[in-house]
Amino acid sequence: MKYDKRILCIGAGYVGGPTMAVIASKCPRYSITVVDIDQARVDAWNSGKPPIYEPGLDDVVRQGLGRNLFFTTDIARGIRENDIIFVSVNTPTKTFGAGAGLAADLQYWELAARQILEHAESSKIVIEKSTFPVKTAQAMERILMSRNDGIHFDVLSNPEFLAEGTAIRDLVNPDRVLIGSRINERGLKARDTLVEIYANWVPRERIFTSNIWSSELSKLASNFFLAQRISTINAMSAVCEKTGADVSEVAGIVGMDSRIGSKFLNASIGFGGSCFKKDILNLVYLCRVEGLEEVANYLEGVVRINEYQKERFVLNMLTAMFNTLAGKKICLFGFAFKADTGDTRESPAIDVTRKLLEEHAEVIVTDPQALENAREDLADAERAVAFVEDPYEAVRGCHAIAVMTEWNLYRELDYKRIYDLMVKPAFVFDGRNILDHKALFEIGFNVYPIGKRPMSHF
Ligand code: NAD
Ligand code: UGA
Repeated sequence: MKYDKRILCIGAGYVGGPTMAVIASKCPRYSITVVDIDQARVDAWNSGKPPIYEPGLDDVVRQGLGRNLFFTTDIARGIRENDIIFVSVNTPTKTFGAGAGLAADLQYWELAARQILEHAESSKIVIEKSTFPVKTAQAMERILMSRNDGIHFDVLSNPEFLAEGTAIRDLVNPDRVLIGSRINERGLKARDTLVEIYANWVPRERIFTSNIWSSELSKLASNFFLAQRISTINAMSAVCEKTGADVSEVAGIVGMDSRIGSKFLNASIGFGGSCFKKDILNLVYLCRVEGLEEVANYLEGVVRINEYQKERFVLNMLTAMFNTLAGKKICLFGFAFKADTGDTRESPAIDVTRKLLEEHAEVIVTDPQALENAREDLADAERAVAFVEDPYEAVRGCHAIAVMTEWNLYRELDYKRIYDLMVKPAFVFDGRNILDHKALFEIGFNVYPIGKRPMSHF
């Protein structure tokens, strides 16, 4: 078949896979190839059963597979045969050398750039889809320009704003699509090509174009603003617990101000996910390198409050359960970093588990989608952790439940039955404020929400 455009994406992960599947479904006349170095991931995508859990994803992938959506490990061929290349590789926090613990580890990105350089036989548009430090496009340009043989590479920044659990909805109906380019003839032409792709389904007024550095920084800034709201409401939750105020009421009242808005004000055990912490630390690093120490400290505070919230949660458990958790069985409801995903990267449940184990508690983890990842995350734990799929089985003989993930499933359980299966006095620590606390208290539980007065029988 003759396709109108040939698009490649390097990286078949949480972003590359869903994003390309949606482009393939919205643009049946384009050929979309996704390459990855991980054969098992590629096989999973090709089987029609994606390697990640994301509502609605299976259907979109199956629609495109074999028609105009292809997954492969043949990177060289992918680069040769496609003119528009998205780079959607991982950009984790560096764990070694200068900037360790703060800066982004750019080795995957640089390898991808060098592969493009090595295999390209014609000019290409190269698009940063991963979240990169500001000025990465310049480094990418410098690597790609080193060939000097008439082949030209135009680098664009097109950061992704999807959230896991709602990825398909976010991709199909995005608040905005951002495209940053060089403001010169070539840059603007490349930008228009990418605008044309998105315009197949995104209204033009939601496609925002900017200079390339604004685009790179806006992605990091957006994640900071979102994370900042969570740390702010979590800081307020600590104040609520000391004063008798109720954090849900405070969030409701504050959020009614249209200048503030009501979203992202749910107090919790803290934000998780592969990006918020990494992206904020990345900005912190940039500020430190540029001598903006005051700004760096301000940004870093958001991450510090997030760590504090997890510590506070476990300390509250310890205090409520008579200052010892040793030998007590604690069942974690959920391990994913949020509902509707199996992703556990930076999940607060990991830190909570480790802190509970330090207190010599026995931890039982249940989750509808994340048990496999949870097992890997805790493979090096100093004490054994049990993984049980059925929540009723998981709570048997437990002293406490701690809600880590806001899965709907946990709202709908039979808590009288659960109470009967547990050791008394039975405790619930609701790290997401999703349960009916009054009803639990009436059943007999001692209930400890976030940012609200505890409901205790003693
Ligand atoms: P991921 O780890 O799920 O996927 C990255 C994939 O790239 C992996 O499968 C890896 O094997 C592959 N890869 C690495 N180097 C490669 C190479 N040279 N050639 C081919 N494949 C290669 O990561 P992700 O969650 O998809 O995130 C990717 C980027 O998108 C990150 O920069 C992240 O910050 C950003 N982002 C993520 C989300 C999200 O919800 N996960 C949302 C917006 C932006
Ligand atoms: C986040 C952003 O929402 C996306 O726009 C962005 O593209 C993405 O990061 C990224 O760059 O990776 P994601 O991490 O998938 O998406 O999920 P969120 O819905 O933002 O939740 C992040 C964490 O904050 C979760 O642990 C969630 O439970 C927590 N959260 C969220 C709260 O504790 N309270 C809230 O009110 C909202």
